Amino acid sequence: MQKQLKNRQNRQEIIQKELEWHDKEAHRRLPLDHFLYAPPAFDGLSNFCLEFLQAKDGELVLDMGCGEGKHTIDLARNNLTVVSVDLSHTQLLLAKEMAAQLLPDAEILFVQANAEELPFAQNSFRIIFGKAIIHHLDEKLSIAEVKRLLKPQGRATFSEPLAHHPLIWLGRKLTPKLRTQDEHPLTIQEMSRFGQAFGTKEVDTFFLFAPLAYVVRALPRGEMAFQKLHRFLAKVDKQIFNAIGSAKRLAWYGVVNVTNTHGVP
Ligand SMILES: C[S@@+](CC[C@H](N)C(=O)[O-])C[C@H]1O[C@@H](n2cnc3c(N)ncnc32)[C@H](O)[C@@H]1O
Repeated sequence: MQKQLKNRQNRQEIIQKELEWHDKEAHRRLPLDHFLYAPPAFDGLSNFCLEFLQAKDGELVLDMGCGEGKHTIDLARNNLTVVSVDLSHTQLLLAKEMAAQLLPDAEILFVQANAEELPFAQNSFRIIFGKAIIHHLDEKLSIAEVKRLLKPQGRATFSEPLAHHPLIWLGRKLTPKLRTQDEHPLTIQEMSRFGQAFGTKEVDTFFLFAPLAYVVRALPRGEMAFQKLHRFLAKVDKQIFNAIGSAKRLAWYGVVNVTNTHGVP
């Protein structure tokens, strides 16, 4: 009991630090985020996640850890009714502004809350989307919360940065101030363990050589060449992952797609 209370207190302290960092410091990351994630670099990954969800027109979807709302917009553009959750008020304001500008008529609800204990009833969602959120959360708490929120046979997809891509690893080492102390990119084993809690071990991986294309994106007028090179390298990467399973641990991103079989006869 004493230990449980201590753990809870520790977790609350971490969440408080995450909240403060994202409220005060996250804006420093915006140029980097734009450089790395601006379309079409992650379109293939996002489409893969969306296909798995098999969303129906107008359906309710939870965007867990929405940040400044890139994927909230994608989800709303796919005719979904989005509930976007983030710990940070500042991030939510950015997301709200972007939505007001790009999709003024979309139905989006923005909620400030901790993804480890969300203010929604059990079985609230048939589909949940998360990008780069699980690596901010406690493994056991996040698994339990996703299970609680998903309807039986509901589907959730999480795409997360992995720990062992050499270039990205170096980038992280050189820029520690651009991320929070407590987040940690996941190992492929950690992602697989997350999936296993829902009965799947499968982790799909993205981007091995494709990150090299960003050198071209950094050049003046390099965008078109970046897009071509990135698309080509991302295809090569897929073939490498298919042919050499052990290369997967060096990918930049991993995706785990899970179905809630809990409570299903
Ligand atoms: C790396 S960003 C990803 C944002 C967005 N999903 C994207 O891909 O652009 C992580 C986001 O998770 C949020 N976050 C971190 N810990 C959280 C928690 N415990 N509950 C809810 N959101 C959290 C942060 O505020 C931040 O906006």
